[in-house]
Amino acid sequence: MNNILLFFTFSLLATLCNAITHDFCVANNQTSPGPEGYACKDPATLTIDDFVYTAFRNSSPLNPMFNSSGTFAYVKQFPALNGLGLSMIRLDLGVGGVVPLHTHRTSEILIVSQGTVVAGFIDSSNYSAYYKKLEVGDMIIFPESLLHFQVNVGATPAVLFATLHDPNPGLQFTSFAVFGSNLPVELVEKTLHLDHEQVLKQKKIFGGS
Ligand SMILES: *[C@@H]1O[C@H](CO)[C@@H](O)[C@H](O)[C@H]1NC(C)=O
Ligand SMILES: *[C@@H]1O[C@H](CO)[C@@H](O)[C@H](O)[C@H]1NC(C)=O
Ligand SMILES: *[C@@H]1O[C@H](CO)[C@@H](O)[C@H](O)[C@H]1NC(C)=O
Repeated sequence: MNNILLFFTFSLLATLCNAITHDFCVANNQTSPGPEGYACKDPATLTIDDFVYTAFRNSSPLNPMFNSSGTFAYVKQFPALNGLGLSMIRLDLGVGGVVPLHTHRTSEILIVSQGTVVAGFIDSSNYSAYYKKLEVGDMIIFPESLLHFQVNVGATPAVLFATLHDPNPGLQFTSFAVFGSNLPVELVEKTLHLDHEQVLKQKKIFGGS
């Protein structure tokens, strides 16, 4: 009997600890965020427009280097996401466009809305590449923190929507991190096992110092 009572007491405590303390906390994105997110805007000032995001209506301008673009609905751009554990990205890939190898701090689910793409990721235990051609309506999952990519292999532009399980999931492109940063040429050579000329060439392309 006592055990049952204890069980219920602990269950109740556990529930209370996870209790949702408010309906929403729309970010004041003029402040800087901490690990828990942003401070809340005064709820009395909120309107329906704080909860609606319209930037996905159109493509952002394509980056000529990869013929692709990302439009972000992270908490910075869409403050209503603050504390809700969600964010989204609209990806546009022109014909031949590529979203180069990158990672986030969270898992990602990607759905194809227009076009045909090859999308995939590389696992970290066996370095196996998992990739496939996806058509409109197909979905793929990129597990948390693994390197992944998308390539438009169709004859028309592609539009993709990604959902990530954090309002600020980050984004790190491998080639920009390595060749677009101030990591010295000698260290890039050593850490990536590349020769001097290759590193200089890539640093020039990606704008690293
Ligand atoms: C901050 O949020 C507003 C919407 O409330 C948005 O219009 C603005 O672009 C955001 N600022 C930045 C830097 O993304
Ligand atoms: C980039 O994409 C646009 C739109 O799909 C396309 O017209 C153009 O030919 C592409 N550019 C290259 C270099 O493939
Ligand atoms: C690891 O990768 C190799 C080569 O790609 C493959 O043959 C093997 O089945 C993989 N092992 C596991 C456990 O996935």
